[in-house]
Amino acid sequence: RLLIIDFGSQVTQLIARRLRELNVYCEIHPFNAVDAEFLDRFAPRAAILSGGPDSVTRPGSPRAPDRLFEMGIPVLGICYGQQVMTLQLGGTVEGGHHAEFGRAFVTPAQGHAGDAIFAGLFDQGREEVWMSHGDRVTALPPGFEVVGTSPGAPYAMIGDAARRLYAVQFHPEVHHTPHGRRLLENFTRLAGFTGDWTMGAYRAEAVERIRAHVGDGRVICGLSGGVDSAVAAVLIHEAIGDRLTCVFVDHGLLRQGEAEEVVTMFRDAYNIPLIHADEAERFLSALDGVTDPEEKRKTIGRLFIDVFDMHAKSVGQVEFLGQGTLYPDVIESVSVTGGPSVTIKSHHNVGGLPEKMGLKLVEPLRELFKDEVRALGRELGLPERFIGRHPFPGPGLAIRCPGGITPEKLEILRRADAIYLDQIRRHGLYDEIWQAFVVLLPVRSVGVMGDGRSYDYVCALRAVTSVDGMTADYYPFSHDFLSETAGRIIGEVRGINRVTYDITSKPPGTIEWE
Ligand code: XMP
Repeated sequence: RLLIIDFGSQVTQLIARRLRELNVYCEIHPFNAVDAEFLDRFAPRAAILSGGPDSVTRPGSPRAPDRLFEMGIPVLGICYGQQVMTLQLGGTVEGGHHAEFGRAFVTPAQGHAGDAIFAGLFDQGREEVWMSHGDRVTALPPGFEVVGTSPGAPYAMIGDAARRLYAVQFHPEVHHTPHGRRLLENFTRLAGFTGDWTMGAYRAEAVERIRAHVGDGRVICGLSGGVDSAVAAVLIHEAIGDRLTCVFVDHGLLRQGEAEEVVTMFRDAYNIPLIHADEAERFLSALDGVTDPEEKRKTIGRLFIDVFDMHAKSVGQVEFLGQGTLYPDVIESVSVTGGPSVTIKSHHNVGGLPEKMGLKLVEPLRELFKDEVRALGRELGLPERFIGRHPFPGPGLAIRCPGGITPEKLEILRRADAIYLDQIRRHGLYDEIWQAFVVLLPVRSVGVMGDGRSYDYVCALRAVTSVDGMTADYYPFSHDFLSETAGRIIGEVRGINRVTYDITSKPPGTIEWE
């Protein structure tokens, strides 16, 4: 296994992610938890030192244990990690006068183009890399040579091939370094990793970690109907069996058939103890007369916590709360914006459950990205249809029903939404689209149906493409698709007599209407 020593960079997890993509098993440990004794116990086959926000020139700034460089294992230092390595092995680092951020190009130093660390690189003579640093190396430690340079960083890449110690000023783990992954691959290959680690192995290790963490305690887990909480729950169940209880709060704002699907899957297919809290009435009466989008979100969020808490108490003695928090959620909650930022929407999901419950957290997906969670879900045997599902917001259909919410409107919305999704699946478009849904507008329009006059609701169809939900573009359906779908909705759903298509991108729109 490979050890990543974390010096606090925002992108340390990306190093781990790239290594998992290369089928190399790694663990991240914070620098202050890694000492000589830890190293001997862990016995890494190789190590990577991450970047970090500090400056090595500051007295008391973080270091790696000296033992690391005496173990005879390959080590790769990245950015701050390069500077730590340089300084600890006898080179010098200077600060202040040459900050460099953004794109740069690295070329191999004289005579080094054929080094193992560069296998498959420099087809174009140089490699694009991403720099982000204030300090830089100014003198090499004994035994080191420059192996790659850039105009702004003469020591962009240094190495001691005999000891297999390498260090780079740039960030090979980020997307802006297009062939960074190849560099990391070369490093792991020269460290002897063959790339035979799999998601199956990850599953086994995660199960072991949960067992060690929970001991003989009990866990409660909130299910939302989404992929993340489902994968977390199945994994925890595999680890501790029926000492896990799941609570599925059904707020009556789910899509057609969704609640039944979740309950059947968990109870019947996985045999996981499940409380199906049918709280539709409570939520709908709390939402009665509420039309303001933020007020809706807050009402749902508050009630959700109360209701969850109530059902959790009914389970008896529980010490842990299981959550499907993903790595991007972790970054967002720790990142400091440094200034007042405007709240566009108050997001609600089961990831934000109460600390007030006094439970310890079990978050087995904390280091994974969405697509990795999907891969783990497949590994755990969750149905493909479930794993590939579009995201669905915590407040559910409430925010797809602008204005007041009534059971009647929700039913109309559910029917239209089911037809729309059926159309999308039939045309084989589901996987090309990030999210697709119907919004029922608080507007009625006049129409003529058969020989009669109609006066019914208008709905908007929404479908967007996106990679992360932060920006989005509307999906360019064909006119045929749109007319066929509108025809079906108006023909099959009583209460809707007009269909529109939303062609707003994000920004300036948001994906949801509220
Ligand atoms: P917006 O509408 O802000 O949505 O462009 C971006 C993504 O977030 C989803 N969304 C939510 N997800 N709780 C969630 O778990 C929420 O309160 C929430 N509001 C929006 C939305 O569906 C889209 O994928």
